[in-house]
Amino acid sequence: MSDAFVFNPLDPTTRRDPFALYGEGRKRRIVRHVGLPVPLLSVFRYGDCQAVLRDDEAWSNDFRAIAFGGVEDPELQDVGPPSMLGFDGDAHHRLRSLVNKAFTPRIVKRLERRMAEIAASLVDEAVARGEVDLVEVLTYPLPVTIIAEMIGIPAADREQFKRWSDEAVSILGAGFFGGVDPERLRRQIRLREQMHDYFLPLARERTRSPREDLLTGLVQAEHEGSSLSHEEMLAMLTLILVAGNETTTTLIGNAVLELLAHPEEEARLRQDLSLLPRAIDEVLRFASPVQFDPRRATRDLELGGETVRQGEIVLCWLGSANRDEAVFESPEVFDVGRARNPHLAFGLGVHYCLGSNLARLEAEVALRALLQRTRSFELATDEPLPLHPSPVFRAATAIPLRLAAA
Ligand code: HEM
Repeated sequence: MSDAFVFNPLDPTTRRDPFALYGEGRKRRIVRHVGLPVPLLSVFRYGDCQAVLRDDEAWSNDFRAIAFGGVEDPELQDVGPPSMLGFDGDAHHRLRSLVNKAFTPRIVKRLERRMAEIAASLVDEAVARGEVDLVEVLTYPLPVTIIAEMIGIPAADREQFKRWSDEAVSILGAGFFGGVDPERLRRQIRLREQMHDYFLPLARERTRSPREDLLTGLVQAEHEGSSLSHEEMLAMLTLILVAGNETTTTLIGNAVLELLAHPEEEARLRQDLSLLPRAIDEVLRFASPVQFDPRRATRDLELGGETVRQGEIVLCWLGSANRDEAVFESPEVFDVGRARNPHLAFGLGVHYCLGSNLARLEAEVALRALLQRTRSFELATDEPLPLHPSPVFRAATAIPLRLAAA
C-alpha cells in the first residue's frame, strides 16, 4: 500500500501545504521511504509519535554515525561532540540538569517586563516605517536579544548570531533525505570553529569575574562531581543560542500569518487579548514550527504494525500528529480559543523543549505589542513567501507587512 504514497518532504509544494498528505499518512500509519542514503520511515499519528518520543530506551537521539550517510570523507563525518540534544540516557540527564534551572517558569516570568520593553520599541519603530519585513524588525530581534542577555553575550553581536543560526539550522534534517553536499558540511565545521572562537574568551573572562548569567553558570557548572568539559560547554552554548532563535522567530511569524489567513480569528483576538496564551498554543498546533522529530531504533522492535530494524530512523511528524482527528476536535479549524490542546510542538519525553516557557512568553509579549500598537496589518506582497531552507521548519524567512498604527 505504501508504494503508491508519494511524500517528498523536500518538495516545495508539499512543504507549503503538507496537510492532505499528512492525513493520508495517518491512514497508512507508517511509511517506508525508498532510495535514500539512510533507512528511513515516517509515522504520522499522534499515538505513534507519542510512543516513540516517550521511549528513550528503544529510541535514540544520537545520529552521529549516520546523519550524514552518503558523504564518504571521514573528516566530514566529524560533526563534533553532540549537544545535549544528541545525547541519550544519563549523559543527557547530566547535561540537561545543568541548564534546567535557568528556564523554569518562575525565572522566565522575571524576564517579561524586559521582553515587553524590547517588543514595544521594536513594534513602534516598525509602525513608524509603515512597511517592513516582520522577521527583520521583530520576530528575529526579540528572541535573540533575550537569549543573548540570558547567556550574557553582547546583544549588539546579534547580526553575527543571526548569520550563525541561519547557517547552523539550514542543514537540519536535510541529511536524512540525502540533501547535504560536502561543501555545506565543510561550512558547518567552519561555523562550529567560529562559534567556539567567539565563546571561548568570554567563558575565560567569566571564570575570572563571575556574573549573574547562564555563561557563568556553565563555566562554574559542577554536577555529581564532574564539571562540563570545554567542548560540552561550547556545544551547549551553541545549542541554546541556535535552538531558541529560529524556532521562536518562526512561532511569532507563523502566528501573524495564521491571523492573516483567518481574519475572523484575528478580530476575536483583538477583542479579547486574554485569549493570547490559547492562541499561541493554537499556532504551535496548527502551524508547528518544528514539523518532524527524528529517532533511531536501538534494537529491532514493532511500530505501527511493522517491524523496525535496529539502526533504522523514524521521523515523527509532529505537524501531522497535531492535526490528528483521533485527538483534536475539528483539527483543521484554527481556533484561537481552543481549550483542550495537548499538541506535540515542543516534542515529548526526556528531550521535551527546554525553552517552551520562554518561547510561549516571548510570542505572547510580541503579539500583544503588535495587536495593541496596530489597527491592522496586511501582507505587502502577492508573491509566495520564501521557505526556510531546512525541511524541519514550517517557516517563512521573510514576511513583508504593511502596518497601520492603532
Ligand atoms: C516555538 C519555539 C520552540 C519550538 C517549537 C521548539 C521545539 C523543540 C522541540 C520539538 C524539541 C525536541 C527535540 C527532540 O525531541 O529531539 C526541542 C528541544 C529543545 N529546545 Fe526547543 N523549541 C522552541 C524554543 C526554544 C527556546 C526558546 C529554547 C531555548 C532558549 C529552546 C531550547 C531547546 C533545547 C536546549 C532543546 C533540547 C532539550 C534536550 O535535549 O533535552 N527551544 N525544542
